[in-house]
Amino acid sequence: MSDQPAGQTSIKASLLVLPLLIGAVVTVGLGVFARTHPAQRGVSWHGPFPSMLSMKVWLTVAVLVFAAIQLVTALWMYGKLGIASPSWLGKVHKVSGGLAFLTSLPVAGACLWVLGLHSTDTRVVLHGLLGCLFYGAFVSKILVLHSKRLPGWALPIVAGTVFTALVGAGLSSAVWWLVTHGIPK
Ligand code: HEM
Repeated sequence: MSDQPAGQTSIKASLLVLPLLIGAVVTVGLGVFARTHPAQRGVSWHGPFPSMLSMKVWLTVAVLVFAAIQLVTALWMYGKLGIASPSWLGKVHKVSGGLAFLTSLPVAGACLWVLGLHSTDTRVVLHGLLGCLFYGAFVSKILVLHSKRLPGWALPIVAGTVFTALVGAGLSSAVWWLVTHGIPK
């Protein structure tokens, strides 16, 4: 049982409302942009990749690898792997999280700019919603991470949402593409 008085716990929990609200505004804002922005023909930033599709699929595979590192390092730091966590683990978690976020930007930028949220296909709609949720939940997570006054359970819940949204967005797009169409040209 918690040794904190019930009133104090609920005051601390209520501090979670603001980061969640800011995250919700980001999620809905991206959704509205995706829904209203007119579709474009392509993007100029597929760089060394031969096409926009190839850039999106391979960068998403990289994002999923970083997300897997995030999961393992988080479970390790929370003592869920039964092995003592080394001092450098926090840094690996931070760097892989930053890389997952940065690597996702050119991909999601292309999704929002070129495709938007206009489909009636369940997979595609789910993909777009998870993509928007990922960025909203990411903003909430950063705010929760830097707040010293929130209860300890807040971070794993918000971080779990970030992870689930990102992995869901990746599975419903790049992984689906590779499984159904093979290597993109
Ligand atoms: C920010 C919100 C996002 C929206 C609105 C969105 C929307 C879309 C849409 C409509 C498609 C076409 C799906 C199809 O027809 O099969 C798509 C494809 C794709 N998305 Fe997203 N997406 C978003 C975020 C993301 C994120 C975060 C990732 C990866 C980290 C991602 C990776 C991909 C990939 C790899 C494809 C397949 C390539 C393609 O069809 O162009 N998307 N996205």
